[in-house]
Amino acid sequence: MRITEKYEGSKETIRQITYMEKAGVYVEELSRKLGRKPSCCVTTFGCQMNARDSEKLVGILQEVGYELTEDENADFVIYNTCTVRDNANQRVYGRLGHLNSLKKKNPYMKIALCGCMMQEPSVIEKICQSYRFVDLIFGTHNIYKFAELLVKMFEDDKMVVDIWEDTDQIVEDLPVERKYPFKSGINIMFGCNNFCSYCIVPYVRGRERSRSLEDILHEIESLVSDGVVEVMLLGQNVNSYGKNLEHPITFAQLLREVEKIEGLKRIRFMTSHPKDLSDELIQVMKESKKICRHLHLPLQSGSTRILNAMNRRYTKEQYLALAAKIRKEIPDIAITTDIIVGFPGEEAQDVDETIDVIQKVQYDNAFTFIYSKRTGTPAAAMENQVPEAVVKEGFDRVLKVVQDTARERVSRLEGQVLDALVEEVNEQDDSLMTGRLSNNTIVHFKGDESLIGQIVPVHLKECHGFYYLGEIQE
Ligand code: 5AD
Ligand code: SF4
Repeated sequence: MRITEKYEGSKETIRQITYMEKAGVYVEELSRKLGRKPSCCVTTFGCQMNARDSEKLVGILQEVGYELTEDENADFVIYNTCTVRDNANQRVYGRLGHLNSLKKKNPYMKIALCGCMMQEPSVIEKICQSYRFVDLIFGTHNIYKFAELLVKMFEDDKMVVDIWEDTDQIVEDLPVERKYPFKSGINIMFGCNNFCSYCIVPYVRGRERSRSLEDILHEIESLVSDGVVEVMLLGQNVNSYGKNLEHPITFAQLLREVEKIEGLKRIRFMTSHPKDLSDELIQVMKESKKICRHLHLPLQSGSTRILNAMNRRYTKEQYLALAAKIRKEIPDIAITTDIIVGFPGEEAQDVDETIDVIQKVQYDNAFTFIYSKRTGTPAAAMENQVPEAVVKEGFDRVLKVVQDTARERVSRLEGQVLDALVEEVNEQDDSLMTGRLSNNTIVHFKGDESLIGQIVPVHLKECHGFYYLGEIQE
């Protein structure tokens, strides 16, 4: 069957599918030269949005004839990059050096770079100057053109660079290879309009664009008929979903519709901005049988003064009131958060305020980051950058409180029997399976691979910090 016959979709989708056929011919040719199927490796840096994008890349690579491997000594290596903090960028540069040495031994090897980091002009400049061995570079807005870019890469001898500043296109319905057969991320919106003063995302992911309700429901329905039981609705700020649609709807209304999909068992979403979290959403979560008991609610700082400088548009008191309301309405919910330490102008008292919020909210987990200066953001130009040693001290203080409260909070479930979605064989001990509770806590228990993808009741016997050891309840 020709690839074109398998997919329906927009004009652009059909165009890309034609390119997939063309790329398939080049891969076949390569296959003959190598005497085996060429291998590809996609390495993902960063968040769940990037992980989902990588699944799209793998889908296309497999369709055109590559075999997926985890080994970077492959015939095609792609780095799907992140640029939210500078250390992510540094890791990419470090690993590129290693790829170059592999490429010298494999004349057919191709290297591609994509993702958020590529949206920064200074990065492209550096790669074009110092990493000439890279074959293809593209960004976040034109990832749907991957098949077309592959063809260009095979046809051109020189480095192919295609970066767009922004787009209003949303092209879906291309092949996707899911990492897990039973769960999947779904993009419900792209971009961000918030412009928090430290954050580079609005510059690299562009303005907010929501997908239509019909498209989202259609995608989830087809995933469910393909064995998916849990979906994660993805967006930089899901609480403002639907505002720019022709027929505006709210995120809560979208959730109500997703809930109705038969066969779907669990719904998660990521990420919520506290300023946009509505009472309607809390109500929908409370009444839902499928929405998981977990809310990721980035705090960033507990100091109103710093929140103001961060352009977060809520105060410490407003955040605390919101968290209290959520806890009152949905007592069994787990709340997790992101915290930045060392934002320009932050003093010890501000860190104390952050610690105060952690103790009051009692997070199940908090991702604590050291502030990273991102060129082009308003915060990077602020004069009162905090010295490294002061940041480190504040960071260690926050981390200690985060760990203590999270341990205490997670251990409250000890002795209970809760449903877990069985996800995989435990990495350290293959007699154990690893599952995830509705509230996102991990539990390990005796079992075998046949359970993967099923939801089973698990007795939570021993809490080990952030995870449990348990036993399936027969
Ligand atoms: N420095 C440190 N952390 C950052 N984040 C975003 N931008 C920066 C930055 N410049 C963190 C925020 C966000 C998470 C995804 O990354 O906490 O919620
Ligand atoms: Fe990284 Fe943010 Fe881009 Fe995700 S959206 S890949 S976290 S920069």
